[in-house]
Amino acid sequence: EKGGYPHFMLKEINEQPAAITATVSPRVENGLPDLRVPELTDERLRRIGTVHLVGCGTAMHAGMVGKAAIEALARVPAQVEIASEFRYRNPILRPEDLVIIISQSGETSDTLAALKLAKSRGVPVLAIVNVVGSSIARAADYVMYTYAGPEIAVASTKAYMVQMCVLYLFALRLAYARGMQTDAEIRRLTAELLRAGEVIKPRLADCEQIKYLASRFVNTQSCFFIGRGFDYSLSLEGSLKLKEISYVHSDAYAAGELKHGTISLVTDGVPVIALATQKQVYEKTISNVKETKSRGAKVLLFTTRDAVVPDGVADYVVRLDDYDDLLMPLQLIVPLQLFAYYMAVLRGCDVDKPRNLAKSVTVE
Ligand code: F6R
Repeated sequence: EKGGYPHFMLKEINEQPAAITATVSPRVENGLPDLRVPELTDERLRRIGTVHLVGCGTAMHAGMVGKAAIEALARVPAQVEIASEFRYRNPILRPEDLVIIISQSGETSDTLAALKLAKSRGVPVLAIVNVVGSSIARAADYVMYTYAGPEIAVASTKAYMVQMCVLYLFALRLAYARGMQTDAEIRRLTAELLRAGEVIKPRLADCEQIKYLASRFVNTQSCFFIGRGFDYSLSLEGSLKLKEISYVHSDAYAAGELKHGTISLVTDGVPVIALATQKQVYEKTISNVKETKSRGAKVLLFTTRDAVVPDGVADYVVRLDDYDDLLMPLQLIVPLQLFAYYMAVLRGCDVDKPRNLAKSVTVE
């Protein structure tokens, strides 16, 4: 049942190219994104006020990527909400808003409660869900399914990947409907999204390199993930995966926040995993990495093929292939998933069933 893999998690990481194709290709028509939600016409999309993206854990992290894509492409204000916060904080919701509920299982109790709150306020709800017929899928006004197939490992990997894909499709269609990007740009990005499965295959093939790197960090007590923009959102997800399955304490920080407190913890030998894939802020992130290096940090840097990495900034560098900056999270998450996976394996952890965790959190 594990298809020859030692763990479901590794199987599911490797199923990501197929999950991307299954999720994205049915939603592209003549080179343009097509949400396949009859009620979400372009006319309706033009009238959306604010988009509220709500979920827990990894699903919420996918929402962060979605928010950035929606704002960058469509210039529509978007907010990311932790479901357990949203439900108790009397959020400001207006009738022209759209709430997007993100959940792999479709059964997460806080997420379902957030959905019900939005509906009780008369705000339409679009659910992005993996499990067909789940409570969230049934309660939402509109559903866009992710087609990841069953996810067994407690740590979410392929479901996160396709949640991001659906959010990119949504952001692209929203931008198209509102005329915020040229047709050519929408078509170009849609084509790039369609080939994401191919883009990540070399990253899956890099697993031996990532396993080696994990072996260099295996005795770590605590580490930091840093990045800016999309790289910050991915820092949160990479850090969550690592804590969840390898039990290594880690924290994720927006790179520019380091000097506002956290850098006091960076001393000789402290691992810093730096993500620097976004051209616009590359130099800024590198200068933060230098600040950690000069305090003795042991730096593992993830960056792009052509980025110039100054001498002495990083102990180890992992290079990603060229890809649009906006879609880079799809490529970057793969080595971060593999890093967490191999750290857990090398530390002898129960990878698929980490302690204290359940696959679906149906109680508050
Ligand atoms: C982390 C993880 C959790 C879930 C969260 C929401 O790897 O799997 O953080 O993402 O419990 O679950 P769903 O998406 O089923 O609502």
